Amino acid sequence: MRAAGRSDIPPAGNFMKPDYRAETRRTLITGPSGSGKTSAALCLITSWKKKNPAGQLFVFDHKGEFSLRLPARQLSRPGQMQAAFERGATVVFNPHVCFTGSLDVAFQFFTDWTFLACSQGPAREKLVVIDELQNFVGAARSDIPRGLSCLAETGRCYRTSLLCIAQASNFVNNRLRSQFNQVLAFRQNETRALDFLETCGLEKGEVASLPEKTCLLRQTERLQTERYRLRFVRNRPRLERI
Ligand SMILES: Nc1ncnc2c1ncn2[C@@H]1O[C@H](COP(=O)(O)OP(=O)(O)OP(=O)(O)O)[C@@H](O)[C@H]1O
Ligand SMILES: [Mg+2]
Repeated sequence: MRAAGRSDIPPAGNFMKPDYRAETRRTLITGPSGSGKTSAALCLITSWKKKNPAGQLFVFDHKGEFSLRLPARQLSRPGQMQAAFERGATVVFNPHVCFTGSLDVAFQFFTDWTFLACSQGPAREKLVVIDELQNFVGAARSDIPRGLSCLAETGRCYRTSLLCIAQASNFVNNRLRSQFNQVLAFRQNETRALDFLETCGLEKGEVASLPEKTCLLRQTERLQTERYRLRFVRNRPRLERI
């Protein structure tokens, strides 16, 4: 399995049989810097892992934060990623070795590679994590790397969930935002960010007045909202329902 390119598409026989009824989550976590987004993501990853012990995790780790906080070994080279993929191990990708100074290209490589990995066997649950999404997509409709749009739009058929983190939802283009079925929001006041959260079913006033380290989790398909407080217990983040 290699990264996608025009002459580099794997034979169709390698693809998993699509499962159109697979239950997957496409989650967006938003909030200003330091509000608790990455910590909340770690909590969601932990609960996903509990629910899917044989599931496989893929993380684009350009800040090295996930390898420290999960913790997990960083992988830099496609060969290491391939070996981890085949073992069913976590793939935490450090883009700075092979793509020094070219984060955009690294992101394209990672999302293409991960989509191909996720769409091929073996048939297990997958979760793809992207922090600081606003660095890699723009607000324009076309500003979305191909691999990411495949993960967001067709990943669900291959039992692939997506967990994205962005400082403000209005930095993320509409085509991608429309794919999220779960939104976790910390307090924010930016009008356009609040407009999007309102379209997801959250009340602007409630989001704008959330206390520190408190967030709302909105399931957009089930029309359910829950409130959580982020705490740290023995250095580990925990989301407690309040
Ligand atoms: N182990 C810990 N114990 C106590 N507090 C912590 C711990 N880890 C992080 N924090 C604090 O929790 C807050 C949230 O951190 P986190 O990294 O989740 O924020 P963030 O929203 O992802 O920030 P950024 O946008 O800068 O990435 C910060 O104030 C941080 O100092
Ligand atoms: Mg963070």
